[in-house]
Amino acid sequence: MCGIVGFTGARSAAPILLKGLRQLEYRGYDSAGIAVLAGGAIDVEKVSGRIAKLCEKTRDGAAVPGVTGIGHTRWATHGAPTDTNAHPHLSNDGRFAIVHNGIIENYLALREELIADGYVFESETDTETIVHLLEFNYDGDIKAAVMKTAARLEGSYALGILCTDAPDTLYAVRESSPLILGIGVGENYFASDVTALVAHTKNVIYLEDGEMAELTSASIRVYDCTGQEIKKPVSRVTWNVEAAEKGGYEHFMLKEIMEQPGAVKAALVPRLHEGRIRLDDFELSAEELRGINKIIITACGSAYYAGCSGRYAIERLCRIPVQAELASELRYGDPMVDEHTLVLVISQSGETADTIAALKECRSRGAKIIGIVNVVGSTIAKLADHTLYTWAGPEIAVATTKGYTTQLAVLYLLAIYIAERLGRLDEKDYAALIKKLMQLPKLLQETIDMNYLLPTVASRYASQSLFFIGRNTDYAVALEGALKMKEISYLHAESYAAGELKHGTIALIDEGQPVIAVCCNEALADKTLSNIVEVKARGAKVLALAFRGNTRIVSQADDVIFIPRIDTIFSAILAVVPLQLLAYYAAKEKGCDIDKPKNLAKSVTVE
Ligand code: AGP
Repeated sequence: MCGIVGFTGARSAAPILLKGLRQLEYRGYDSAGIAVLAGGAIDVEKVSGRIAKLCEKTRDGAAVPGVTGIGHTRWATHGAPTDTNAHPHLSNDGRFAIVHNGIIENYLALREELIADGYVFESETDTETIVHLLEFNYDGDIKAAVMKTAARLEGSYALGILCTDAPDTLYAVRESSPLILGIGVGENYFASDVTALVAHTKNVIYLEDGEMAELTSASIRVYDCTGQEIKKPVSRVTWNVEAAEKGGYEHFMLKEIMEQPGAVKAALVPRLHEGRIRLDDFELSAEELRGINKIIITACGSAYYAGCSGRYAIERLCRIPVQAELASELRYGDPMVDEHTLVLVISQSGETADTIAALKECRSRGAKIIGIVNVVGSTIAKLADHTLYTWAGPEIAVATTKGYTTQLAVLYLLAIYIAERLGRLDEKDYAALIKKLMQLPKLLQETIDMNYLLPTVASRYASQSLFFIGRNTDYAVALEGALKMKEISYLHAESYAAGELKHGTIALIDEGQPVIAVCCNEALADKTLSNIVEVKARGAKVLALAFRGNTRIVSQADDVIFIPRIDTIFSAILAVVPLQLLAYYAAKEKGCDIDKPKNLAKSVTVE
């Protein structure tokens, strides 16, 4: 939540900061601001609302001269999204300006202290306490003031700092919020995400918790929390700037839906060698796996729903009990986790606060942790014992699509890997599953191609509150389908295990009530078909999702969306695609802001 950027070099900073902020806007879009150093003073420009408004106000940066600056795009936590609460914030003496991503938990106590010392607050934000604390701690040594200040902060922060006494220098500090340094030629940068850097450089440094960086146009120095300079490895970003742009699509979400066949291929192919699965740089031995008596999958939102689907694949193939747990619940739930538990932590961003907390809780109880993460170098990737990257590339739309399907692909891969290691699969079945796995990219493409009529279907169904139903693997898909619909079209959508309808929910079915029935689990399709008949008898309008060739469903449902036939183990990865498209077209028809839905942010770094 919130994105920060910084630039120092010989070029005009403001246009570069605005361009970076546009790339980070998915992280929050309540207000935006920049601060640029020029002529010994800091010029701050900020607005409530989108970055486009800030561009207009600053004439695309032309109205803000200077070559060193910082910028911020906000997802409001403390205080409404007003101009005053927008970052950057200035110290009372005008010497410091800061931008902040994260939450300062002890800000009220600090604020009281500072007010008692005579500091005047303009905003309601937690961030403003940091800038006054900097002024309070400053005695001519900026680095020392930054470190002293950081030592008083509790919570999470990625900070970008300007000081008029060092007019060509940027300071950046990280604690539990992502911060990446970009190494340019005669210029340097920082940002919350590499997407804001790739237009300028592919050489980056990932800051770790407790580290501070000092950037000038000619150098980058990194210090640990004791002030000791440390040498940091330089990483190379593997994707191009085009990957983070719309490439002719009207929305990032549609582009990312279309990218799924390629993304799933990228998640699978590097891990398959001559028909066998090889995990990246680690192995799980048969002996180690035999010591595992339970697998817990923990995550939030769609990543949790990917876990709900993956659970079925792992249980069916490995015969190990699997629990999918919401990270926000698990972290406070006194979980039954010990050294015999394998925990799979799933996160696109790798920065979700609740997921990180759940990981730490499980780790403290002795569990082994495997992270399934998209963003390279993110917190979860670093905290896990082993990480399997999903290699989906940058996902910009707030609603995840390729992030989710690549998580599923990795879960399938892991399920087959563990089953084989435990001797639960013979060579023939193993080879057959690998073959099916390898067909997924092609079948995903077919699924997309088969659903070109969805805009019409969407306008028939997505006009009021919707129900999504399914059983087992189909229920997991229904959960994700309903979430997609809610988050981008703002239509009320509920998902139910189809067998639960009779236990209460069917009371809500009236004439014309749209019901989306997922019927891709062949073993249970007839059971769901009965539920379709029951809701139809009460007036529901049913859109079914089924395998191509399922003629029985055509006679019962009002409309049917088909997907290619595939083993039930893998059906969720295909079945979710039409539901993503359905939500997309419903939101489009309603004129919603599809890539940046209201009240949401891409990466939920606060509890
Ligand atoms: C999905 O469309 C959501 N926007 C959201 O539920 C998301 O999946 C969740 O916040 C978890 O994010 P993560 O994968 O980055 O941890």
